[in-house]
Amino acid sequence: MCEIETRCVVPPAHSAQGVTVEAGINIALVKYWGKRPGRDNLPAVGSLSLTLAAPGTRTEVVFDASLTADTFELNGEPGAEETLEKVGGVLDDVRAVAGLATRARVRSHNSVPTAAGLASSASGMAALGLAAWRAAGLPHDPAAPDVRLVDLVRRGSGSAPRSLLGGFARIDRATGRVHPVETAPGFDLSLVVALTAAGPKDTSSRQGMRDSERTSPYYAAWIDTHEADLDAARRAIAEGDFAALGETMEHSTLKMHALMLANRPPLRYWAPRTLAALDALADLRAAGRAFCTMDAGPHVKALCRREDEERVAERLRAAVGEVLICHPGAGAREVEGAP
Ligand code: PMV
Repeated sequence: MCEIETRCVVPPAHSAQGVTVEAGINIALVKYWGKRPGRDNLPAVGSLSLTLAAPGTRTEVVFDASLTADTFELNGEPGAEETLEKVGGVLDDVRAVAGLATRARVRSHNSVPTAAGLASSASGMAALGLAAWRAAGLPHDPAAPDVRLVDLVRRGSGSAPRSLLGGFARIDRATGRVHPVETAPGFDLSLVVALTAAGPKDTSSRQGMRDSERTSPYYAAWIDTHEADLDAARRAIAEGDFAALGETMEHSTLKMHALMLANRPPLRYWAPRTLAALDALADLRAAGRAFCTMDAGPHVKALCRREDEERVAERLRAAVGEVLICHPGAGAREVEGAP
């Protein structure tokens, strides 16, 4: 019965207020870094991630015939020009699919710091794409999102399609499409996020990737060794092998950061407290109980079994201050109420 229910197309939650969608951030365990040439924002490598229940983004889209231009508000403030352009691109893509000309009013709320290397662009683009898609009356199957929705969300942010799905998800290098990952029953993990610095990052991941492709001597090795990490992670998740997954995750993130350190100019997202957080978990890492990953930002995300989350959180809190204990969550979904 569940199978049928999750696969059926849910009717749009239309109301005078439009459609609201909530999406959790996703954290890559096997990272993507690098893009293929072209306008579709296709990744140079595949990736595998875990979608979290929270934090994330809640976004409302209303197509309103009285508007002469799209409008965008983020956390109660008018969105920056550059962000409005990105939002407009997603709306244009949805309008093209739906055969609509109407402009839209978009209101978004991030419960995660924006552009700080905490994957706000992934949850933001997934929430925006699905809300616009549903507000335009297009059908959605949460277990198998329409490939046109996946494509338009990915054009906004390379990691965003993964937030359309819940739990472990992977993006296929060849197609750029997103797929659920077969997961061992009861494989219940936590991600403890240590917030190691305030404010947005200086270099966008898009720019950093471009520089790595052009200047890092390790870029070719990154591409060549990447598929093996994806295979190892998929196997570990299917078998419920936490230590194998943790080691693969750690290897992938350290390769990615080594690669960008060798950019010209060098790119380093780590802050002093990034190292403090890693040091604080050294013995739990040695015992195979906690493994760390870092994205295009200074924050440290520690993967552990549920029973160890308090212990990991305590260590990280003592070392860096603010910590979020996160659990796997569902993919982007329609919800009631405003952002
Ligand atoms: O989603 P983007 O294009 O900003 O890239 C995100 C890249 C990493 O977070 C560093 C890795 C990943 O796979 O999420």
